[in-house]
Amino acid sequence: MLRRLHSEQPESFAFTAENQKWAEAQLTKFPEGRQASAVIPLLWRAQEQEGWVSKPAIEFIADMLGMAYIRVLEVTSFYFMFQMQPTGSVAHVQICGTLSCMICGAEDLIAVCKDKIADKPFTLSADGKFTWEEVECLGACTNAPMAQIGKDYYEDLTAEGFAQMLDDLATGKPVVPGPQNGRYAAEPKSGLTSLTEYDSGKTQYNASVQLAVDIGDGVKRIQGNEVPLLTPWVGKDGTVAGRTAAAAPPKAPEAAKPVAKQVEETKKAAPKPKPAEKPAAAEEVAEVAPETLKEARGGLPDDLKLLKGVGPKLEQTLNELGFFHFDQIAEWGEAEVAWVDSRLKFKGRIERDGWIAQAAKLAVGDETDFAKKAKKDGRYDDE
Ligand code: FES
Repeated sequence: MLRRLHSEQPESFAFTAENQKWAEAQLTKFPEGRQASAVIPLLWRAQEQEGWVSKPAIEFIADMLGMAYIRVLEVTSFYFMFQMQPTGSVAHVQICGTLSCMICGAEDLIAVCKDKIADKPFTLSADGKFTWEEVECLGACTNAPMAQIGKDYYEDLTAEGFAQMLDDLATGKPVVPGPQNGRYAAEPKSGLTSLTEYDSGKTQYNASVQLAVDIGDGVKRIQGNEVPLLTPWVGKDGTVAGRTAAAAPPKAPEAAKPVAKQVEETKKAAPKPKPAEKPAAAEEVAEVAPETLKEARGGLPDDLKLLKGVGPKLEQTLNELGFFHFDQIAEWGEAEVAWVDSRLKFKGRIERDGWIAQAAKLAVGDETDFAKKAKKDGRYDDE
């Protein structure tokens, strides 16, 4: 299946304040310079919030992580769990169409989707509430046929029951996930043949259904203020399980003290620390404004996107600040870096990505590995 950006895109994307906090907290899970590792959770939260991953969301996350837009687009289009087109405002329904489900009635479920939602997958229903698609095995074959709706599995489905379920969801009536034929979990349909003494009746539903019912976030759009969905791995006092206790709660990358500390400890333990490495508690450097230009010399700016870590948005910001050429960047000292850094959304990226060394090479006509690759691959930008 061809997965590409949808023809219609929203103007912009932003996380809700709480989701932004959550997203910044995710960055603290990774060592300095490895924040790109948070790309999947951040894309997922964007999808939980909006129902799908739009181009502005991809760009927003790329900027947040200092990644080229194309890299985040690649991740999004690679994983089928990311929806790249608008989905129903109530739910996106995923019908398993693989062997067990197919022989147990998946085609009937698909017929219900065609009847009640839209003839073709990934098409909004007339009321905009639903979309559907057929997916590969979701690993609940014992309870075939099944569908995933929002976060939950609905199993042992019949066409009639499934149609009723869609009606209930459309009117906001709560539906209980899990087996729909009275089975507790995945035991034989005729009843238990072993472990019969096991007391399965401790909770009304099996563990995952019980949790789904208790949390109740099955088809909800996540705003970030749903407890316990907000950084459940961060304690109330701001500490992270398994980490050194930190006084402050994890925030943006530059505030990720526990991780920074761990990285620094690792560096200290290494046999040959590089002399150029900064001490953990870097002293505040006074800012000095670098020389800027009103416009590119001769109207010919350099392609600043050839610097690793600079995407189209960041290039635009740099141009607006008065930087158009590699040689301008190559001349920045520590104080100038501090000045520019404080005007970028996320501090530390200039040093982290080695802009100055890269710019010095590019300014004299040398290539960097990144620039070579960027030129060869072509780039995804917002033009
Ligand atoms: S075949 Fe449908 S869940 Fe495995």
